[in-house]
Amino acid sequence: MCGIIGYSGHRPAVPLLLEGLHRLEYRGYDSSGVAFEQAGGLHVVKAEGKLSALEAKLEGLAHTLATTGMGHTRWATHGLPVERNAHPHLSQDGKIAIVHNGIIENFQELKEELSAKGHTFLSDTDTEVLAHLIGEERKDAPSLCEAFARALRRAHGAYAVVMMAAEEPGVIYAARMAAPLLMGVGVGECFVASDIPAFLPYTREVVFLEDGELARIKGPAWEVFSLTDLSPVKKSVSYVPWDMQAAAKGGYKHFMLKEIMEQPRVITDCLTGRVLEGEDGARVVLHELDHMPVPTRLHIVACGTSYNAGLWGRQLLENVGGIPTDLDIASEFRYRDPQILPGEAVMVISQSGETADTLAALRLAREKGCMVIGLCNVVGSSIAREADVVLYTQAGPEISVASTKAMCSQMVLIALMALYYGQRRSPAVGDAGLLRELCTLPERLSAALPVMQERAAQLAPRFSSARSFFYLGRGQCHALALEGALKLKELSYIHAEGYAAGEMKHGPIALIDPQFPTFALALDDALFAKVKSNIQEVLARQGRVIALVQEKDGRAPDLAVEELWVLPSAHPVISSFFALPALQLFSYRMADYLGKDVDQPRNLAKSVTVE
Ligand code: G6P
Repeated sequence: MCGIIGYSGHRPAVPLLLEGLHRLEYRGYDSSGVAFEQAGGLHVVKAEGKLSALEAKLEGLAHTLATTGMGHTRWATHGLPVERNAHPHLSQDGKIAIVHNGIIENFQELKEELSAKGHTFLSDTDTEVLAHLIGEERKDAPSLCEAFARALRRAHGAYAVVMMAAEEPGVIYAARMAAPLLMGVGVGECFVASDIPAFLPYTREVVFLEDGELARIKGPAWEVFSLTDLSPVKKSVSYVPWDMQAAAKGGYKHFMLKEIMEQPRVITDCLTGRVLEGEDGARVVLHELDHMPVPTRLHIVACGTSYNAGLWGRQLLENVGGIPTDLDIASEFRYRDPQILPGEAVMVISQSGETADTLAALRLAREKGCMVIGLCNVVGSSIAREADVVLYTQAGPEISVASTKAMCSQMVLIALMALYYGQRRSPAVGDAGLLRELCTLPERLSAALPVMQERAAQLAPRFSSARSFFYLGRGQCHALALEGALKLKELSYIHAEGYAAGEMKHGPIALIDPQFPTFALALDDALFAKVKSNIQEVLARQGRVIALVQEKDGRAPDLAVEELWVLPSAHPVISSFFALPALQLFSYRMADYLGKDVDQPRNLAKSVTVE
């Protein structure tokens, strides 16, 4: 997830681009760059690391006369976070520059085609291939605009792209397909950016570009075309009433809520390029694992929410992937001298890729000569660098201390791994229904989230006086129960325990009384009847119960609980992707209702780099 800004107008462009990039800082940084017009050509400056490194490089350079330019902050997806991979990227002749957010899935194929025509590449990125392709198309196309459109029509995947070329001074082009991009229309000037905060101090007049649209901007003049045939598209200008702080949060009150609501997009990004439609149906593609033998056993090691994602995935890896799997908390694993046999692998899961205990577990596994798979969100992090194989969850930067969308992306990736190993072991092990529903999940979840938000807002005031909570579930819902309890504890400071529902009768049930409510996960899976019995046990002791359930044949199950929370019906594994945001939203609403600091709860850190 990168930040993009482009400008064409009457002010010095470079300071304005840097200011815009600073305002996109919450999207995360590992390198950045700008392109601007100078002496009839294009000038590109880029730097590894934080924006200050780029600013230092620009100091003393004559750029104040440029009134057209574009900038980019990179959050690496293809290639290491180093200067040569930073954007902008240039065409072979250096006369066309682009910045890009997204993934060009067929870049390898295009790269081979262009290499055969004599193109040479300076970076490892998919973006540079697109820049070269535009240059190549320009050789035959009647105009730069046509060349841009032709190249984009050949690119598969997701993109928001901004382009400048030496042949059209003062002009910037922009196009989008499944990645955010919008225009800001000012007085005598226009902006294009991946997010509103980038230009908010200059204008609140916004034109939202849609997928398959291409814009040409020159100072105050802008036009939008259809990418398919370059026919003009009529667009309207909207007014955005946000202040700066609200804008960085996309209009949400807190980053946590924004990140919960982003989950459909996160699932799409995690699936992008990893599911291929073929003649015999869809298949999972995880090239990173192709050259590694199928492990005879997988040891999952992680902390906090990432551990809960591992617990959720264990059953899938065993049942769908056919791989015996066990699980450890990283701080335990590192000190218990784990026995790992030849042929087995360790999989560490970490959003930040920097958690000290998880990193130590990884190093221990490597010392023992074991292959380590890293499931990470932050590209170039320590765990990503030190693992033998790294799979990126592609959730984008997570700002709120309480992890939400990262867990969703970890679950998607584990489900893909299970399906992938299932495919490799025997075509009979997989689960075609699961893969099909995974692909349609983003759309279904987008439709369900607003309803869940309302339900969480209704429930929070009714339960906000509780001092303790149980969260109960079985099977994969046991992992979700642990996560629900963790979220409630960390955000609202209400004591909460996640329990395997069947284990309650062995002690904890003694705590149940009308002041100790229970959040029961009673989803429509093979264990529903068992959980139903456990709910009866709680009700028999005057316990208050919220039950998370699903419709079956158009009807909610008959449970005599205080609150039923009905989720859409789905494949038993997919149901978890509805239950997870419900739990997150409930904790969010409880904490917000109680006036707690949602994004930065007391005593916690986003990335725990100490033991
Ligand atoms: C901290 C965070 C949690 C996170 C855990 C593991 O405790 O507050 O939200 O789940 O670290 O972090 P990791 O980056 O390794 O997933």
